[in-house]
Amino acid sequence: MSKIKIKNILKKKGKKPIVCLTAYSKPIAEILDKYCDIILVGDSVGMVLYGMQTTKKVKLQTMIDHAATVKKATRKSLVVFDMPYKTYTNKKVAYKNAKKVIRATKCDAIKLEGGKNIINIINYLIKKKIPVMGHIGLLPQYSEKFKLKGKNLKERKKILDDAMVLSNSGVFAIVIECVVEDLAKKITSIVSVPTIGIGASKYCDGQILVTDDVVGLSNFSPKFVKRYSNIKEIIEKSVKKYCSDIKSKKFPSNKNVYKF
Ligand code: KIV
Repeated sequence: MSKIKIKNILKKKGKKPIVCLTAYSKPIAEILDKYCDIILVGDSVGMVLYGMQTTKKVKLQTMIDHAATVKKATRKSLVVFDMPYKTYTNKKVAYKNAKKVIRATKCDAIKLEGGKNIINIINYLIKKKIPVMGHIGLLPQYSEKFKLKGKNLKERKKILDDAMVLSNSGVFAIVIECVVEDLAKKITSIVSVPTIGIGASKYCDGQILVTDDVVGLSNFSPKFVKRYSNIKEIIEKSVKKYCSDIKSKKFPSNKNVYKF
């Protein structure tokens, strides 16, 4: 199993679908590593694991702790670190934080939310040899509500401009979140780097979802999520059985006891 590099991701554009999921922990990273091209340590960790309302309060150190664990458990997939809110307010701050993140976690790349508005920051990071993944369309760090993007001309033009500017800057991929199908299709056909869709149609070069949504560990199930299992139900059944076994004295049994 050889390590996936950025050049391998670039080569897949328009040829082979790029498979991506999120991970915040060792056991999930170990499973994902067998199947995913890219593992994103997303700031969605704030909502998924810490019960926050938005991603705005996620701390850089929290992300570093999760990402270091994920990266250590990963041998093949490319691991991308999602820079949290306000950690890339200008190019110097962004570079200082990106360097700290890469040094502490050994992640392969970082992801920033935004297009034209942060292009000077992205250009600077790329000039300093930090690999960057873009993120356009719905930007969770800047929107209170989950809302489809690209429904009117003004929005469409902005998203398309953002995509072009990012592609020309040298990002190695662009996440397109919650964008109408025809616009995601158009962007994918125009930009030179792979697009990774989340609620942005099958026309993107790859797909990403939050793993907890895919396996039924979260309560988040918008239209674009496909749930493949219901892990919450399995955990609950196990906990219920454990409780009843204790109460009925079935556990611990002889098999679980040390004797000499
Ligand atoms: O934080 C996150 O998990 C993301 C996604 C693209 C899923 O940004």
